[in-house]
Amino acid sequence: MTTETLRRDAEELKPHLIAIRRELHMHPELSLEEFETTRRIRGWLEEAGLEVQTFGLATGLVADITGGAPGPTVALRADIDALPVAEETGLPFASRVPGKMHACGHDFHTASMIGAALLLHRRRERLRGRVRMLFQPAEEVAAGARMMIRAGVLEGVDAILGMHNKPDLPVGTVGIRTGALMASVDRFLIRVTGKGGHGAIPDAVVDPIVAASAIVGALQTVVSRNTSPLDSAVVSVCRFHAGATWNVIPDLAELEGTVRAFDAGVRRRLPEQIRRVAEGVAAGFGASAELVWMEGQHFVNNDPALADLMARAAEELGLRVVEASPTTAGEDFSVYQEHVPGCFIWMGTSGTEEWHHPKFTLHEDALPLSAALFAHAAELALRSLARD
Ligand code: NI
Repeated sequence: MTTETLRRDAEELKPHLIAIRRELHMHPELSLEEFETTRRIRGWLEEAGLEVQTFGLATGLVADITGGAPGPTVALRADIDALPVAEETGLPFASRVPGKMHACGHDFHTASMIGAALLLHRRRERLRGRVRMLFQPAEEVAAGARMMIRAGVLEGVDAILGMHNKPDLPVGTVGIRTGALMASVDRFLIRVTGKGGHGAIPDAVVDPIVAASAIVGALQTVVSRNTSPLDSAVVSVCRFHAGATWNVIPDLAELEGTVRAFDAGVRRRLPEQIRRVAEGVAAGFGASAELVWMEGQHFVNNDPALADLMARAAEELGLRVVEASPTTAGEDFSVYQEHVPGCFIWMGTSGTEEWHHPKFTLHEDALPLSAALFAHAAELALRSLARD
């Protein structure tokens, strides 16, 4: 297909895609509760003649576009869930559900990928292979990708493409990067045990609050002194809980936090460094510390060939391509990339606020552009995979 035809068809679809996006925006649903969202997506796909599969999932769905000739399978993924944020945009199509909002733009992702599905469905006879559309629930709680993979959606899939809207990039600009784009996400809990007692008789106790405070301070050196200045990582203590009243020193203090990295080696070393600091500092106070490590998702790691392919698709459509700046936020798109090569990109949306802000907005002119981009990229990927 020529890219002019594709762009024109996508522009024709624009009012429909805007209507879809606004309908989703007005009715946000939180992770694992996307029942109406799933029903709506199914409706839009089926009315266009696409067939939908659930793979036994309660929310989220899959639609295959089977080409006129056999070949590889490329998956396109959109996340569909919203956030517990009270919307403050004042838009006429603002959330009608108190306390819930599409404040990360997953309504945009969903509408874009429905657009890509409709464009590909019209051109299916010309496709060599299959495009599998994944409408994934529960991205915000980092559960949906795992659920979908467990349900079997990646069977037979050779590559996967996805995107996130990017408020600080203008509409028409696409951010693409080879390698790490979004950080790995791990979680830790440190239990510091001392010996409680009277707040006025500190010589008779082992104060876990003082020990835990020193651990918080010492943990700041894990990145600054143990991680190469040329690498990057984040170690943040985000919860410090101890004590029940003002005059009793407790037995226990708990610290909980998040760890981010962009490199497998850096990530692998962090738990041991955190454990050493926690145990060693606690011992210095006569207390003890126990580290509980909760491994989360890998960093988003873009395949070089697919990143090149996305850039080519964007350029052929007349979009501007820039080097994507990485972010320490996480994305469970990375879970798919542990199984198949993938590429995740930034789609410029000229937003006014960052993700998760109650005044988060995006520009709907980006809808047909991303629909056309993913339709074109899927077609290019099928061709390139068939040659491999
Ligand atoms: Ni998001």
